[in-house]
Amino acid sequence: MSKVAWLKDAVFYEIYPQTFYDTNGDGIGDIKGIIEKLDYIKELGANAIWLNPCFDSPFKDAGYDVRDYKKVASRYGTNEDLYRLFEEVHKRKMHLILDLVPGHTSEEHSWFVESAKDYWNTYSSRYIWTRHAFEGIGGHPYISGESERPGAYMLNFFKCQPALNYGFYRPSEPWQQSMKEEGPQKTKEAMVDVMDFWLSHGCDGFRVDMADSLVKEDGPEKEGTRQVWKDMFSVIQKKYPDAAFVSEWCNAPLSMDAGFHMDFYLDHGNNGYQSLLRDYLEHSEDDSYFKADSTHDTTRFLSEYMEWYQKTKGKSYISMFSCNHDTPRAKRTLGDREISLFFGFLLTMPGVPFIYYGDEIGMRFLEVKSKEGGYQRTGTRTPMQWNSGKNLGFSEAPMNALYLPVDPSVDAPTVESAKADQDSLYHIVKDLLALRHKEKAFQADAPMVMHTLKGKEQALVYERGNFLCIVNPSNTSLEISLPDEAYATAKLIYKIGDGLVEVLSKEKKIISARPQSFVVLKKD
Ligand code: NOJ
Repeated sequence: MSKVAWLKDAVFYEIYPQTFYDTNGDGIGDIKGIIEKLDYIKELGANAIWLNPCFDSPFKDAGYDVRDYKKVASRYGTNEDLYRLFEEVHKRKMHLILDLVPGHTSEEHSWFVESAKDYWNTYSSRYIWTRHAFEGIGGHPYISGESERPGAYMLNFFKCQPALNYGFYRPSEPWQQSMKEEGPQKTKEAMVDVMDFWLSHGCDGFRVDMADSLVKEDGPEKEGTRQVWKDMFSVIQKKYPDAAFVSEWCNAPLSMDAGFHMDFYLDHGNNGYQSLLRDYLEHSEDDSYFKADSTHDTTRFLSEYMEWYQKTKGKSYISMFSCNHDTPRAKRTLGDREISLFFGFLLTMPGVPFIYYGDEIGMRFLEVKSKEGGYQRTGTRTPMQWNSGKNLGFSEAPMNALYLPVDPSVDAPTVESAKADQDSLYHIVKDLLALRHKEKAFQADAPMVMHTLKGKEQALVYERGNFLCIVNPSNTSLEISLPDEAYATAKLIYKIGDGLVEVLSKEKKIISARPQSFVVLKKD
């Protein structure tokens, strides 16, 4: 199993620094604000944090366009503030990972500025350039005509994000470098140096942006990129064996082979994860599995998830999440009850789960104008709602100075109101987290046996040790065949919904799961 022991019981909370908590009244969140709210996160039961990029940047892609990898953006504070955050996190026996963007920098990064000069220098091969301004980069997006250097450079994402050069898997043009050449070798060294810098100051690992994008025109199974990670990990994981790495890859077996400890199961077009919560991107009506009136079963999810689970089990983790900064909040189409059932599932499954800030109180997806390259993602990035005070407790700044508007609805959920209501989503998430931490059977690497047969049943039924979890998100009762007769008389230890488990036939091991319910049964 993963060598990073603390991951076994880790539950991450993702913080978008722009909008978490503002302590200096400038309308934008800051690191001191995160420090002030650590006890809130700890009390909820999350014990690890993923902090979105907080580095110096022109913010054309919300900080995923890094201008200086080793400097905290002044709007969030100073490097000293971040070092203090590491300390405060550790004092509370928590961990914090930063966001590493290894595939591209900002066009304003000094490496790129040097690379664009018309004379050969240390950074000339740090990015991918052709030989002439009139020579394009094949099928890849590129820019030419903007630099004194005669050449076009490749982009990795937006126009502001030139691709770093890790080489081509099989170079086919004279300007393409192989992975072995000096330029790509130096890029790896530079990225290892960035990781070393933050790990030496107390960070506990990295979420890695577009981790599968490094080597260009890679092999069908990303052979080149996997090799690059193996090379970098052979240095950095050796020096920091407790550092955790989670990839934005969405292919757990490949990410595991590359050396990552966890891989995100992302909402990629029509995939299994998307079928659970956001099954509306291909058609207008949401038909997500967790919607009470959904017409589809678990097939799309299980056929993908179980294959990856079997291939990675015992070696690395699949990380599912409630949402992230790129994904519409579940609340866009689901109600709190439906979301709570998803949390029941997320927090009792194996792997390392991630909760997006504000999902624990059911924050909404807001229709707001694009900010810093967010476009449709912006609606998921609005300020955390703490209380009924000014700007819902996010900031003392005038409303028009806020980074993004707060939810204007009269019934906007807040931490304050959620805590006061014993039946709120907040308390469900908190109780589930307490259960997860209490019982070893729910830890990331503890066994899971899935009993739901592909496409045969609508309920998710899985065992974790002596516990049986049954999720029935539909609005009808469902007959469930128990994997073991002992569950027919087992103790109900957790429930969402009325929790009545009706034994239809003890001999035949059949029970009925109530509509929109989640139960955990424990056999002796
Ligand atoms: C994925 C990040 O999650 C997203 O927010 C960003 O825009 C792109 N990668 C580019 O870095």
